[in-house]
Amino acid sequence: MTTEPATATRPIPLSSPYLDEREEELALEVLRSGRLSLGPWIDRFEELFAERVGAPYAAAVSSGTGGLHLLCHAAGLGPGDEAITSSYSFVASANCAIHEGATPVFADVDPRTFNLDPAAVEAAITPRTKAVIAVDIFGYPCELDPLRDLCERHGLTLIQDACEALGATYRGRPVGSHGPSAVFAFYPNKQITTGEGGIVATHSEEEWRLLTSLRNQGRADSGGWLEHARLGFNYRLDDVSAAIGIAQLEKLDDILDRRRAAAALYTSMLDGVQGVSSPLPDDADHVRSWFVYVVELDDGIDRERVIGVLERHGIGTARYLPVIHLQPYMRERYGFAEGLCPIAESLARRTLALPFHTGIDAGDQERVVEVLAGALA
Ligand SMILES: Cc1ncc(COP(=O)(O)O)c(C=O)c1O
Repeated sequence: MTTEPATATRPIPLSSPYLDEREEELALEVLRSGRLSLGPWIDRFEELFAERVGAPYAAAVSSGTGGLHLLCHAAGLGPGDEAITSSYSFVASANCAIHEGATPVFADVDPRTFNLDPAAVEAAITPRTKAVIAVDIFGYPCELDPLRDLCERHGLTLIQDACEALGATYRGRPVGSHGPSAVFAFYPNKQITTGEGGIVATHSEEEWRLLTSLRNQGRADSGGWLEHARLGFNYRLDDVSAAIGIAQLEKLDDILDRRRAAAALYTSMLDGVQGVSSPLPDDADHVRSWFVYVVELDDGIDRERVIGVLERHGIGTARYLPVIHLQPYMRERYGFAEGLCPIAESLARRTLALPFHTGIDAGDQERVVEVLAGALA
């Protein structure tokens, strides 16, 4: 292996958006129209998105976090209630319930899928439980049917945090089409981006009306600009962002194909490298939408040393994901400590994201694997 001096190598970023002239063209069209918010681009984006994920309605919002918060609000979560979620996720999956005054309860994950283990969710239910926030972590669909079944049996609201999973399918149908309201996010590292942004896919017209009112300061369909039917928020997406989202949606199939091919290339190159496991492959019920490429290092490997080697070669990495319950504010507020979710905690110590995005260069991937293999040798 020829190892060039680290200073001479071109950096390989962890992530990068995939944009071309089409986004510029549509964004310019909005700018030239003079109508930058509450315009027709939002409606169009929502229609196209809803159609794409197989939901009758979609409400665009300013972030995935905003969408999750609105669903917790709509579910009536409040002080004294508990919401069960995964600790092996991004903090927004738990914060959305906390913002409504509810208490987060963390159930452990399945070590294969990294998603909530339905048996652990069931065991965590108490008389105070009001909702389950199930995450499709790293784009791998969660156990939707068993979770939906237990939520129905216990009278709980199921909220799907699909922020990382646009394009994934569960039991042959797209995530978003199954019934529970699902939130998708469009930060620039996601499969498609609007800069900042998110959307809620819902199967209820009533919920859609409520969400579109809540995101718009509680204004109702009828009534004036300064008439507010309910306490709301400003979680509106703007029209430039929606136009960028439309341009991104137009190429979603191509994006998903490219990401699938890049993931397959990593997996084949990592085959035989000692000390590291590739992400779980798809099966008949679960087809992942590739959001990130996160490997699992064997127990006993010094992850910090591996990260140090990659960084010295200009290779972007991230410790995806630290567990939520051990974040400083969580320890302080709820007294959570090590041992609450042993599987999630073990994953959090050993998992590592490699550079991954739609336009990633195969040669760069080869260099990543070469350096990683060298660090593990
Ligand atoms: C699992 C998960 N939930 C929620 C969010 C929040 O989305 P946003 O950053 O758009 O607020 C993200 C985005 O990073 C996420 O990955």
